[in-house]
Amino acid sequence: MLSNDDIKKNLGFAAADYVSSGMTIGAGTGTTAYWFLQALGEKVKQGLDVVAVPTSTATANLLIENNVPLKTLNEVDKIDLVLDGADEIDPAFRLIKGGGGAHLQEKMVAAAADRMIVLADASKLVSQLGRFPLPVEVVPFGYRQVQQKIAKTYGIDVTVREKFGAPFISDHGHYILDCHFGTIADPLNLHAWLNQIPGVVENGLFLQYATATLIGYPDGNIIFTP
Ligand code: A5P
Repeated sequence: MLSNDDIKKNLGFAAADYVSSGMTIGAGTGTTAYWFLQALGEKVKQGLDVVAVPTSTATANLLIENNVPLKTLNEVDKIDLVLDGADEIDPAFRLIKGGGGAHLQEKMVAAAADRMIVLADASKLVSQLGRFPLPVEVVPFGYRQVQQKIAKTYGIDVTVREKFGAPFISDHGHYILDCHFGTIADPLNLHAWLNQIPGVVENGLFLQYATATLIGYPDGNIIFTP
């Protein structure tokens, strides 16, 4: 049986096989995407000709470390393929993302892409979204109003994400509210409701972006589902 890290490593290297020369790709964020970026770096060293649009500052730094040419989202017309991780995946390929706090930029990159392959170990597969606390990125000004509104409306715990005893600050200077729904019965309505609250920048529901999944299992199997 493989460790979780070995599953992620195998996934990262398997994912790199879906990238071909000439592509503009979206490069994901997180511990699974980390291995994809290492694999991509090796392929670039061997002659793969790609341009990558990073989904976070951390990923931009990893692309630079691995000598992968990068561009910002403003410098490309569109993205051919995004390869990114997820925190939960339901049977309709709907996702929760943002465990690393990068879902705003990840969603903008996904929205600009023709295709998105989600890389995840099998523990991320769920029958219904919501066990993983849904990240909601908010403007720091007046964030408590937003926190209370979500908590009261749904009767759930909503916590401000912290790092080193202070609010976690996203790449774009915002806070993250982690919303402990437990189960999300109607992701489409919740997505719309959250994003209309003044102060909400973006929530971690990705409902129409994933076009395929690449799932790694402890026995070493990796299954691609288009
Ligand atoms: C980053 O904000 C997230 O959306 C990640 O893509 C997601 O949390 C998956 O990360 P891991 O691959 O580290 O589990």
